[in-house]
Amino acid sequence: MCGIVGYIGKEEALPVLINGLKALEYRGYDSAGVAILVDGEIKVKKSVGQVKVLEKDLEHEKFLGHLGIGHTRWATHGAPTESNAHPHTDCSGRISVVHNGIIENYKELKKYLETAGHKFTSETDTEVVPHLIENFLKQGNNFDTALIDTLKMVKGAYALAIIDRDNPETLYATKLSSPLVVGAGVGENFLASDPSALIGKTKKVIYLKDGEIAKINSRDIRVINLEKEVSPFEIIQLEWNLEQAQKGDYPHFMLKEIFEGPEVVRATFRGRVRSSKNLVKLGGLEQVRERLKEVKRIIILACGTSYYAGLIGEYLFEEITKLPTEVHFASEFRYRDEPFDEGTAVIVISQSGETADTLAVLEKAKKQDLLTLGIVNTVGSTIARETDAGVYNHAGPEIGVASTKAFLSQLTVLIMMAIYLSKDKSSTKVILKELEDIPAKIEKILAQSDNIKKLAEKCRGYDNFLFLGRRYNYPVALEGALKLKEISYIHAEGYGAGEMKHGPIAMISEDFPTMAIIPQNSVSDKMLSNIEEIKARKGPVFVIATEGDERSASLANEVIYVPKTLEPFEPLLTIVPLQLFAYYVGTNKGFDVDKPRNLAKSVTVE
Ligand code: G6P
Repeated sequence: MCGIVGYIGKEEALPVLINGLKALEYRGYDSAGVAILVDGEIKVKKSVGQVKVLEKDLEHEKFLGHLGIGHTRWATHGAPTESNAHPHTDCSGRISVVHNGIIENYKELKKYLETAGHKFTSETDTEVVPHLIENFLKQGNNFDTALIDTLKMVKGAYALAIIDRDNPETLYATKLSSPLVVGAGVGENFLASDPSALIGKTKKVIYLKDGEIAKINSRDIRVINLEKEVSPFEIIQLEWNLEQAQKGDYPHFMLKEIFEGPEVVRATFRGRVRSSKNLVKLGGLEQVRERLKEVKRIIILACGTSYYAGLIGEYLFEEITKLPTEVHFASEFRYRDEPFDEGTAVIVISQSGETADTLAVLEKAKKQDLLTLGIVNTVGSTIARETDAGVYNHAGPEIGVASTKAFLSQLTVLIMMAIYLSKDKSSTKVILKELEDIPAKIEKILAQSDNIKKLAEKCRGYDNFLFLGRRYNYPVALEGALKLKEISYIHAEGYGAGEMKHGPIAMISEDFPTMAIIPQNSVSDKMLSNIEEIKARKGPVFVIATEGDERSASLANEVIYVPKTLEPFEPLLTIVPLQLFAYYVGTNKGFDVDKPRNLAKSVTVE
């Protein structure tokens, strides 16, 4: 994980770096640091904790310069201490490096360098990089050659930003498996782990490819490969705007992003759905239209919340598209020996488009010549570029570490895809009509946020929670439990209600509440029987029910209502109160819900 930034140009580097790091804090916030070229010397400052601590520590220091790099850390190798914080330097202080990724062979390299007399000051894997460059410079190489020789020695994953005191006009960047974008400005250029750090600075970005080295000055960007040949690049125009990346009047990004739900669903289907004509148009899939006709089996691969969206996709593809579908954690699938047959299509779902495991299974599927499709939010990200075709979410930047609005947009894309791929469209018109009504229905749920807040206040004392759902709401139970865990650190388990009697019921007591998701649907009677069983064992029960459903309400200690909808759309409604519930429990406990402990938004290491 970790976030890295770089700047070269007409402005003072420090404020640009600090603002960029703040935007990237969702990637990690164990420590932060900057290195800036000041009067011909590299000055480094590092602090433990969030970027605001570093900013405060720099208040009375002079860090005036126009070339610099910065880092916000999610600790992998070495505790979150000042010495382990990035940037890391060589023995002489000439070279300074920030890194996102893992150098897998760092132990051997460190041993080799120590034997050659290099002094290390941290426990990190990263520190071998500046020392290796120094080592190759000492052998009489120029900087480009020293960097290339270094990259040929390191194994693992990296995005690196590097400054060299003796090349004061150049910001260096290179990557392998970890994301890195160059932002193209006027009289200035930028570097960042992802474009959210560049919003408000430039909308023009270049996604570096693996094995490329960017040599950036204030007017020019040159990209070469490890053979020193010029590498052509494409400048991509971003759609995101500054407002989307700011909290506005909301206390947290998470709350803002939950409240963006209705607009996000609209933005996801806008221009793609015409219910009157029973039509779904997904431009990103047109180029593989013919291959899609041959698809006989779908495998959905993803991590975290995107995986739970995938589980709902399984129900959708089976019910609407009538295609056998399976869903796997990307982290598991990458080590399976699943036999594939012709006609298998892989769909990878990723908000960031950079998750390491998801990227790995995409590569695996490509090696098998399977058709690969992406559902990705971040335009131009690695997964978006590597898939054969795909559909962008159009959810806008998601900053809160716990995914909320991206989940809604993923479900919306999955519904559209399920209809797009279905051969029999006789029943899809009514589904498309309902999709257009979903944003207004989410608004009705958001209008009850005060009630959900009161429920969260009552629940803050519980140490455990069981979330139950069935069919389309089974993955919602998993995602609801995940949200509560992530944000409030309360132990929560999501379960299919039918499985409750096979174990979880043993935990039920007066102190072990259940959140039951019971909209009126084909399985609500079964769900209600399960709730009776919990009540008989004195377990408190909170229920998400359909408006006007007296029966569920009569069993519940508290009830939150959602509007009636078609069964495949229920997750788009039932998850919203659960997102709000987790948010309010977390804030009630005083936690920083936008940056939950130990988590990072984009997991770019294995
Ligand atoms: C991390 C984030 C989750 C996210 C998951 C997958 O765990 O904290 O919010 O769902 O990664 O990320 P992706 O970007 O691939 O959807």
